[in-house]
Parts: sequence; C-alpha cells; structure tokens
Amino acid sequence: MKTVTYQNKTFTLFLEEAKIQAKIAEIAQKINQDYAGKSPLVVPILNGSFLFAADLVRHLTVDPEIHFVSISSYGDALSSSGKVNIFHDLQVEIQGRDIILVEDIVDTGLTCQHYMEHLRKSAPASVRLTTLLFKPETFKGNYQPDYIGFEIPPEFVIGYGMDIAQQARELRDIYHLK
Ligand code: IMP
Ligand code: MG
Repeated sequence: MKTVTYQNKTFTLFLEEAKIQAKIAEIAQKINQDYAGKSPLVVPILNGSFLFAADLVRHLTVDPEIHFVSISSYGDALSSSGKVNIFHDLQVEIQGRDIILVEDIVDTGLTCQHYMEHLRKSAPASVRLTTLLFKPETFKGNYQPDYIGFEIPPEFVIGYGMDIAQQARELRDIYHLK
C-alpha cells in the first residue's frame, strides 16, 4: 500500500486522484442543475479547498463568480479548536446573491457554521455548502453540507489541499492516518 510520512506519522493511500476527480464531476453536475440560469458566488474557504475549488469550477456551466475567503479553526493541531478566525472576508455585495461555500472537509462543522451565520447577516438569497469530505460522526453543526463528495470515518486525512502542519497540500491523492 502506498504510504507517505509527515511529522513522523505514516499515512496510507485512501482516495486516489481518479476517484476524487470523478466525484467532483458528479458534484458539479448537480450544481449545474440546481443553479441553471443563475450566477452563483462560488466561495472557496482557503487554504484547504483551493484544489477542490479549482477542479470544481472547471466543470461548472452556471457562470459562477469566484471569490475567496480565508477562515480558520484548526491552527496546526489535529482536531478542531472550535475557535474561528475570519482572516479575509468577501469583498463583494452579497445581498440577494446565491452563495456556494466550498470546503475541503467538514469535521465538526463549526468553522462553516460560524461563517454561514456571519454571511446570513448580509441577506444573501441563499447559502449552500459543498464539501469534498464529510465526517458525519464528528459533526456538531446546525447545517449539514448540501453537496458532499465522500462521507469518511473520523480519521485525520491529508493531501489534495489538506495539510498537516501546512505540509502535504500538493499531493494528488488523499491519505489517511490509520
Ligand atoms: P471543522 O470546523 O471541525 O469542520 O473543521 C474544518 C476545517 O478543519 C477544514 O476546513 C480543514 O481545514 C480542517 N480539517 C478538518 N479535518 C481535517 C483533516 O482530517 N485533515 C486536515 N484538515 C482537517
Ligand atoms: Mg478548510
């Protein structure tokens, strides 16, 4: 089994590039159906979602506007701190707009919940969330993601945008700690 080592931890291959890419095409197809005739604001949450967002938007036919935000809850720890910082917020008017937040992974869901509540104060028409990975067993939020790539067990994963201490984001496949 293919493995990689970071921070003295050995990760094993979990989701291969081809499987990830096929799933992203499926998610995009649903978004294209649901938002036909609309021009949603696609809002990737940096840093982890940059690859997912880049691959997702290249399948979209709905004329998205793409705006990045930077929020964080984790620091360099392996589990959610529950504390959320907004480092870079949206710089556009969102009143009446349809927003699709893009996350790499929803674990507790607290990061997204906090940011969705913040966005709703500006009266967007709608706010939905897509995430490539979802850990249902650790989820504690009020809003379930609307478009989910893969439901996974509560294991720490890296690669395809996701990091351990800011490393491993560039890996094409996703690895997990077993
Ligand atoms: P939540 O607030 O617990 O849902 O955490 C959301 C953020 O924590 C995600 O956007 C990731 O950046 C990070 N995160 C959660 N689980 C993992 C993981 O298994 N590997 C790497 N980052 C993770
Ligand atoms: Mg993230």
